[in-house]
Amino acid sequence: MTKLLIRVQDITKNFDGLNALHSVSLDIEAGKIGALIGPNGAGKTTFFNIICGLETADSGSVCFNGIEISKTSPDKIAGMGISRTFQTSQFFEQLNVIENIMVGRYLNTSVSFILAGLWLPNVYREEHRNRVKAFELLEFLELYEKADRKLSQITFRERKLIEIGRCLAMEPKLLLLDEPFGGLNAKEIKFLAEKLIQLQKQGMTILIIDHHFGTISHIADEIVVLNHGEIIAKGNAEKIRTNEAVIAAYFSA
Ligand SMILES: Nc1ncnc2c1ncn2[C@@H]1O[C@H](COP(=O)(O)OP(=O)(O)OP(=O)(O)O)[C@@H](O)[C@H]1O
Ligand SMILES: [Mg+2]
Repeated sequence: MTKLLIRVQDITKNFDGLNALHSVSLDIEAGKIGALIGPNGAGKTTFFNIICGLETADSGSVCFNGIEISKTSPDKIAGMGISRTFQTSQFFEQLNVIENIMVGRYLNTSVSFILAGLWLPNVYREEHRNRVKAFELLEFLELYEKADRKLSQITFRERKLIEIGRCLAMEPKLLLLDEPFGGLNAKEIKFLAEKLIQLQKQGMTILIIDHHFGTISHIADEIVVLNHGEIIAKGNAEKIRTNEAVIAAYFSA
């Protein structure tokens, strides 16, 4: 039997009179890859921010694993098993690659504590396991040999992978990726898409925001199309590809 991991119902969000989301609902079953696509300003990132607790919806509800989380704080939501990347990657530039992955284990720790390096002795003393786990993730992402590199020494592609690695270090139940393919070339997109499919095979549930219908259509089980804050279509790739409202609003945009 399939299990609903997240149920978002009737979310509406206004910013100073701008209707960013209007009555948006979306369900994701455990183990599926969902995609949220739509033109610039459609409301995709706002939708992620509401799921993660970074923004509060004006109305509607978010239920994760059967628990209502609309009023829950971002750190608690992260602790419950929702982890996300940002459209513009965010890093601790002072830390090297492996430390930037390990920091995912300490998301409930204050940033000043992390930046002061005060967390490192604790990691070594108490949580050798975290380092082992971080190396496993680097191996999975095929970045093992980059572990000790400074952030200034790694490429854009590697940064995108490391940010996903940091999310995975939290051992989330739901992974939210905001434009993970943005700025990557075709070969890099293929590599990342294959990694996401591998994660799905390991049981991960993923929701991806993207502009590229082509990439998404190969990996998403369900696609939701947003336009001006409203859902204009939902379904598998074939259904979306032939949907007239989508063709008018999105493909011709
Ligand atoms: N904090 C905010 N304050 C005011 N307006 C906002 C805020 N966040 C988003 N918006 C507006 O809400 C609308 C939706 O923005 P959002 O970033 O969610 O779109 P998006 O679909 O992620 O776009 P993109 O594809 O460009 O990333 C936009 O018009 C944006 O300017
Ligand atoms: Mg966005």
